[in-house]
Amino acid sequence: FGVVNGIEIYSMKIDSKVTSRFAHNVITSRAVNRGNVHKEVVFDVELPKTAFITNFSMTIDGVTYPGIIKEKEAAKKQYEKAVSKGQTAGLVKASGRKTEKFTVSVNIKAGSKVTFELTYEELLKRQFGKYEMFIKVKPKQLVKDFEIAVNIFEPQGITELEAEGTFITNDLQNIIKKTFSEKKGHVSFKPALDQQRTCANCSQSVLDGDFTVRYDVKRPTPDSLQIVNGYFVHFFAPTNLPKLPKNVIFIIDISGSMSGREIQQTREALLKILDDIKEDDFFNFILFGSDVHTWKETLIKATPENLDEARKFVRSIDTEGMTNLYGGIMRGIDMLNDAHEGKLVPKRSASIIIMLTDGQPNVGISNTQDIQAHVKKAIEGKYTLYNLGFGYGVDYNFLEKMALENKGLARRIYPDSDAALQLQGFYDEVSNPMLTDVELNYPENEISDLTKNSFKHFYDGSEIVVAGRFIDNNQNYLAVDVRGEGANDALSYTTHQDAEQTAKAFQEQEYIFGEYIERLWAYLTLEQLLEKRIAATGEEKENLTAEALDLSLKYKFVTPLTSMVVTKPEDYDNQDGIADKPTEANYMNFDGDPHFIVPVPQKDDAICFNINENPGTVLNLISDPVTGITVNGELIGDKRANNDTKIQNTYFGKIGIANKYLHLQLIVTPEKITIKNGNEKTGFTWLDSVTVQQDGLTLTINREKNLVLSMGSGVSFVIVLHQVWKKHPLHQDFLGLYVLESDKLSEQTHGLLGQFFHGIDFTILELHPGSDPKKPDATMIVKNKELTVTRGWQKDYRTDPKHGVDIPCWFVHNNGAGLIDGVHTDYIVSSLF
Ligand SMILES: *[C@@H]1O[C@H](CO)[C@@H](O)[C@H](O)[C@H]1NC(C)=O
Ligand SMILES: *[C@@H]1O[C@H](CO)[C@@H](O)[C@H](O)[C@H]1NC(C)=O
Ligand SMILES: *[C@@H]1O[C@H](CO)[C@@H](O)[C@H](O)[C@H]1NC(C)=O
Ligand SMILES: *[C@@H]1O[C@H](CO)[C@@H](O)[C@H](O)[C@H]1NC(C)=O
Repeated sequence: FGVVNGIEIYSMKIDSKVTSRFAHNVITSRAVNRGNVHKEVVFDVELPKTAFITNFSMTIDGVTYPGIIKEKEAAKKQYEKAVSKGQTAGLVKASGRKTEKFTVSVNIKAGSKVTFELTYEELLKRQFGKYEMFIKVKPKQLVKDFEIAVNIFEPQGITELEAEGTFITNDLQNIIKKTFSEKKGHVSFKPALDQQRTCANCSQSVLDGDFTVRYDVKRPTPDSLQIVNGYFVHFFAPTNLPKLPKNVIFIIDISGSMSGREIQQTREALLKILDDIKEDDFFNFILFGSDVHTWKETLIKATPENLDEARKFVRSIDTEGMTNLYGGIMRGIDMLNDAHEGKLVPKRSASIIIMLTDGQPNVGISNTQDIQAHVKKAIEGKYTLYNLGFGYGVDYNFLEKMALENKGLARRIYPDSDAALQLQGFYDEVSNPMLTDVELNYPENEISDLTKNSFKHFYDGSEIVVAGRFIDNNQNYLAVDVRGEGANDALSYTTHQDAEQTAKAFQEQEYIFGEYIERLWAYLTLEQLLEKRIAATGEEKENLTAEALDLSLKYKFVTPLTSMVVTKPEDYDNQDGIADKPTEANYMNFDGDPHFIVPVPQKDDAICFNINENPGTVLNLISDPVTGITVNGELIGDKRANNDTKIQNTYFGKIGIANKYLHLQLIVTPEKITIKNGNEKTGFTWLDSVTVQQDGLTLTINREKNLVLSMGSGVSFVIVLHQVWKKHPLHQDFLGLYVLESDKLSEQTHGLLGQFFHGIDFTILELHPGSDPKKPDATMIVKNKELTVTRGWQKDYRTDPKHGVDIPCWFVHNNGAGLIDGVHTDYIVSSLF
């Protein structure tokens, strides 16, 4: 128990300190190799994408190997240098997902201990009236000493504090301890080993999911200004304002690609949204396929009758034709212009455009740069544009640029069963504007490096944060002019603060990390520079990049411009065992000759078959239209044909894995590994030992052994390298493939291997002697067919790549005839991609 593959993680601590919304988190994981050979220890954690990693180190037998933050190019060079010296190095990159994975692995000697320590920082954002921090918890084994400790200090005073975990059962609920009084809040979660078990004697851990802490602070006034050491931060969140009426135009893509589940989920979400529209609001729907359709000619008031009519309309929305995105969005802008000019909508109101698309414009104006330019000119800063990109077929970059240029933001809607909820959740965030045109003005001659200080909308339950630096480092007084337009009148007042008051508010704070305001300012500045950079071009983009890089290096933030390089100890490579050993019980594979093994877990047994085809043949192994993942393999033969047998021995000599939505291709041969990302190509050899993280992909190459590729949806592929003696007269090097977490692929997955991911069952009727006395034959009922099968063994090379481990299985003859859908030649494709 608690020991997985010889590695025991005996301690894991997540220590989080939050001061004025700025969170500083340290994850410490300690492991020992209880086996009697070298073992690979993997440390992987998922972080919120809004966080920046700021430090990492690993300590092996008392020696600390620090991670160093470098500019991406420099990091790459250092990595290449380390590899060319035969050293191994880990390369950590920020990637652009909802959470991002940080992975480092190291080989440690039998009996040795390793400590990993990772630090990351994040500014907690207020949403729906609460600050929320989530911690992804997944120790993957029972941990003797497991603890999450959160300490919050809020000088304004804490009003509520909640903590919950998606994995928390009734039994675990009272292990979460939380207390708060005045300015301090504490949350601790420390389940004992037995409390971590999924059942009384199980060795599996229940700790797998999100642990979330939420709190809010007192707000006697809308403003909280804090001044420390020449920096200031201003939190602005007025309460009890009357709601502003809003004018919302929904612009919905109904092109053919939305048909099926997507349009169904869109209808579902719009119906829910209609329930939330307030009577003072105005709204309308614009649909675009090849043509543009409007529900009503003008914006209409959300009376109960109109909402009822809208529901009928939404239920009737169907798909048609191509994607005239330009036509749809311009019609929406015109309609808002007309409504304001004709004084149809209240003067004091917020106008919002929400566009949903799953594709790329291809009717009307389809050049995205032209669309952007026209839209910006037409909106003129008057309305907020939100772009929702449904699925992976969208040009998200374009949607994001266009939204940012028009004071909104873009969001990806993941094509999943909860897509309707994602849409509705987004609407909730932006559906309650309380103020428009908010400006926080500070004396220009006193402040430099001010973060963004003007905002189109202030939404109920959110918070505006502005930070800056005093030109005179010793200045300890600040006045600010606050302005905004509310439902009934304009908001306008001046507020001020001095450093002494801040110091007083912080008095009881024992662990002030003094420069927290400076780091908060750096974090916010960086976040905004990176966002501005998205829509910028040319020299402006170069300047923004340079500025952001400077800050990332100065404050040691891992951002998209920097990498963390960890150079691992030199002499830890070894011949024993296979690195990065996957522990999931459920896997699918082919390996050698090419043997396919299909596990049947409910029978604790397996079915296997071979495919005999000529060298050069390419077989489709997996194809999933939903995730866009395809895996094909090309056969090679022996060095020369074997005259003795009719059937030529074949192996997989080239494997191609593609994800069409991520525009990624991975080509693996026994010589080299190539990643193609659009037009970008990166090459490695099997002599490399490296972890590469790019948007949506994590690739770990374990020198001369195997590689592990994880993609978007969570599915992982392990490719094992089989090396034969270089001068072998007949055989040549070949590859094996194993698929982990195949349930992360969709139900529509097919292919020689993929068709079995949905599970299969069989019945053995009678056993009788076969042609080989050691291998009995039997009659198997599978897929309503009766097949003659033979008891045999196939080798699983995951754990022992040299000799393999024998897996007993029922062998289906004649290229899997009767077991696979169709015949094996149906799976022959013309090329690797
Ligand atoms: C990073 O972590 C290591 C190990 O705990 C520590 O010695 C070092 O001071 C930290 N660096 C920074 C910049 O905090
Ligand atoms: C757990 O294991 C112990 C000792 O092997 C056994 O006596 C007990 O019945 C088991 N409990 C369960 C619930 O399986
Ligand atoms: C970029 O930076 C240079 C040097 O500071 C400056 O002269 C130039 O005006 C900047 N360009 C833009 C577009 O901001
Ligand atoms: C295979 O057959 C060819 C022609 O029949 C012959 O020339 C060659 O020597 C044979 N090879 C072996 C390994 O027996």
